[in-house]
Amino acid sequence: MNDRSSAAAPGNPLKRFLLCSPDHFDVTFEINPWMSARRRPDRKQSWAEWDALVAALRAAGAEVHHFPSLPGLSDMVFPTDVGVVGGDRFVRGRFRHPERRDEAAHGATWLLEHGFTEIPWPDDPGMYLEGGDVLRFGDVLLCGNGPRTSPRAAEHLSRVFDVPVVTVPLVDPRFYHLDMSFCPLDARRAVYAPDAWDREGRRAVAELVPEPLIISMEEALTFSANSVVVGRTVVMPSCPSRIRTQLEDWGFTVCVSPVGEFLKAGGGIRCMALDLDLLGGSRAAAGPLQDPTHA
Ligand code: ARG
Repeated sequence: MNDRSSAAAPGNPLKRFLLCSPDHFDVTFEINPWMSARRRPDRKQSWAEWDALVAALRAAGAEVHHFPSLPGLSDMVFPTDVGVVGGDRFVRGRFRHPERRDEAAHGATWLLEHGFTEIPWPDDPGMYLEGGDVLRFGDVLLCGNGPRTSPRAAEHLSRVFDVPVVTVPLVDPRFYHLDMSFCPLDARRAVYAPDAWDREGRRAVAELVPEPLIISMEEALTFSANSVVVGRTVVMPSCPSRIRTQLEDWGFTVCVSPVGEFLKAGGGIRCMALDLDLLGGSRAAAGPLQDPTHA
């Protein structure tokens, strides 16, 4: 696949994502309840779904970059977890599970090669951070905490990016990253499944989001919240009809891009697309990234 970037639709802010192709995607270990080494993904189908997702994101107006996955790192197809990008800087992920730890260096290498600067971690080995726990809503970062990300890591993000952080404690092991139960839509609206959080998290999010689309656990189990928004298009792994009706009433276009092979590893579309504009910043204003390998 050609790595040339696609331009943003006129009038929409530039939205850039980094994906990792499924060259070595597999399920060989089990670190979340979705994964079973007895239910391995099909290689051809994984590629077909991944290619279709890249095409759907580009058709929605996003600029898509990608890099190949490496042998032995079967979860690399979920680059969202490798870091958190703010403007032209990033914080590298600190994975909870040893099976994924080497991914962080590969993600960081790509970002460094493309002009981003790394913000170092403080000397505290007890901090964990996986990018799937970090979402932006308006002027705040929402940060899941529990299985994969520690509260002190959220404080670190708040400090280095100078942004308020609302922490959402996760209570259901099936929703081990916040991006499986929360999807920001625009400055006022978000789709979310509060049953995946503790009481404190539910209260904090209810105060934050003026127009919520609250979904049931059953609806969230389809990975419908694990979606990304490009302009007014919501690119989703699946969309139960009640959710579609509300999104369309709000003026969004729903684009379903099925990723069933990736769900076998417990990841959907948001996990597969690292948001290079999570906190906006100077590069976003400056225009498309130059890709040194394809410039
Ligand atoms: N198998 C991966 C893991 O358990 C899936 C990652 C999903 N990523 C996400 N942002 N929700 O870590």
